Amino acid sequence: MTFDPSQNSTLFTDQVVVVIGASNGIGRAAASLISHRGAKVIIADMNPDGLKELAAELNLPANQVHVLDVSDQIAVTNVITSIIKDHGKIDALVNSAGIVGQSNVKVEDLDWALYEKTLQVNLYGAIWLTQQIIPHMKKQAYGRIVHLASIAGKEGNPGMAPYNTSKAGLIGFVKGVAKELAPAGIIINALAPAVISTPMNSNTSEETLKYMISRIPLGRTGQASEVAEIIAFMASPACSFTTGFTFDISGGRATY
Ligand SMILES: NC(=O)c1ccc[n+]([C@@H]2O[C@H](COP(=O)([O-])OP(=O)(O)OC[C@H]3O[C@@H](n4cnc5c(N)ncnc54)[C@H](O)[C@@H]3O)[C@@H](O)[C@H]2O)c1
Repeated sequence: MTFDPSQNSTLFTDQVVVVIGASNGIGRAAASLISHRGAKVIIADMNPDGLKELAAELNLPANQVHVLDVSDQIAVTNVITSIIKDHGKIDALVNSAGIVGQSNVKVEDLDWALYEKTLQVNLYGAIWLTQQIIPHMKKQAYGRIVHLASIAGKEGNPGMAPYNTSKAGLIGFVKGVAKELAPAGIIINALAPAVISTPMNSNTSEETLKYMISRIPLGRTGQASEVAEIIAFMASPACSFTTGFTFDISGGRATY
């Protein structure tokens, strides 16, 4: 590989980038930034209103917008098939779809159906998306896959067993799959944010937020635009010698 400093490898010229969970928060900011960096972005989410707003903002035609519930394996297969049919390839996947699930509940009191639902969205959805996309990336011997994990998957938050389990599972999934995919030229990483100001945290109590911020050396919550910057790097050709890793974006909370 030759290094040409005049080439900007953080751009997405001629690339197709799929962003899942694009209706809100981190996914929305990432889709917007990656689109402004030159990609043809395909946005998907289960929330059609947010998709409509973002599609209007980015001026996207209907075949770049998909309503998708990632906890439905058949729907995941159908959407990826339809993207390939319409656009011919997928250079990068950013998967930001996620739910908190039950929180502030002791492990012995958790509702199993809700536990499973959190795993289906946060973990199985990520696995199914990866499985569907890999064959297409292998054909072009290039690909970037970014999954949103969480500091909860590294440290574990009390009262949030389903979320912790899903994110720790995702971190483990990415580690192993990276080693399988490295010879094929495909790079896969996770990202572990601490607390970011998005709709996901809109119901978090003042007291919990205060506690979370007290653990962040930078003394504030992160912004979706800040997370989008690191995602854009991870999804771009510039991220070429890091795979299987969980990047940190925690304001200094997790220095490991
Ligand atoms: N905000 C934080 O503090 C924080 C911290 C750590 C990790 N994360 C992770 O980052 C990711 C994005 O979080 P966010 O803060 O932007 O949340 P958000 O709630 O603002 O956005 C999540 C998006 O995922 C979509 N979504 C939910 N379930 C879905 C499903 N079944 N199928 C398709 N789309 C679905 C929602 O409609 C929404 O648009 C999540 O995976 C989350 O766990 C967030």
